[in-house]
Amino acid sequence: MSGGARFITFEGIDGAGKSSHIEAAAEWLRERGHQVRLTREPGGTPLAESLRELFLHRPMDGLTEALLVFAARRDHLRSVILPALAAGQTVLCDRFTDATFAYQGAGRGFDLAQLGQLEAWVQQGRDPDLTLWFDVAPDVAAQRRAAAREADRLEREDIDFFARVRSGYAARAAAAPARLVRLDAGHPIDTVRQAVLACLAERC
Ligand SMILES: Nc1ncnc2c1ncn2[C@@H]1O[C@H](COP(=O)(O)OP(=O)(O)OP(=O)(O)O)[C@@H](O)[C@H]1O
Ligand SMILES: [Mg+2]
Repeated sequence: MSGGARFITFEGIDGAGKSSHIEAAAEWLRERGHQVRLTREPGGTPLAESLRELFLHRPMDGLTEALLVFAARRDHLRSVILPALAAGQTVLCDRFTDATFAYQGAGRGFDLAQLGQLEAWVQQGRDPDLTLWFDVAPDVAAQRRAAAREADRLEREDIDFFARVRSGYAARAAAAPARLVRLDAGHPIDTVRQAVLACLAERC
């Protein structure tokens, strides 16, 4: 196994295509000798999945939401992600801290400096090695979601909300260009998959 990126996160607004591509990425890496651990946020542990249920379905204020997400993340990091990385596995995570900045920060207007404090406190510098940002226009993502399934609480937010979330991802990408790779997820699914695999080939 090569010594490149091991902790890889998949980001983007709802319907961008994260879940569609994470399995193919895992398969591609396994074929090349990586032991792959697939996980997601908020969630990834029994406790964090319970917090996810609250987060997705109960109305709450921005600070409560941010604290719940970071509480879930701490549990996820210490019981799944860090042990897997220590064991030499490649961790693929469907959403991580960039989503908190995009949704709670840019989307809901929660204070970015406070989110940064929680990020530093909970992650202690263990950022992802590589983040694939599936960037797509909010109206395209909404059409995909409408075709796919019923909306949860966050998915019922309007186009303006998702435009703010998208700009939040753009700000994170501008702040960490070496980590965050933008993929144009408005293309057909096979084109996006090729871009994902090309990025993995370069970085892993
Ligand atoms: N490039 C694409 N072109 C057309 N449809 C796509 C594309 N990528 C994904 N889809 C479809 O859009 C829907 C949403 O995709 P997917 O569930 O992967 O998005 P997601 O980013 O994981 O969303 P969520 O954040 O809600 O989990 C699915 O039905 C999927 O088949
Ligand atoms: Mg998904």
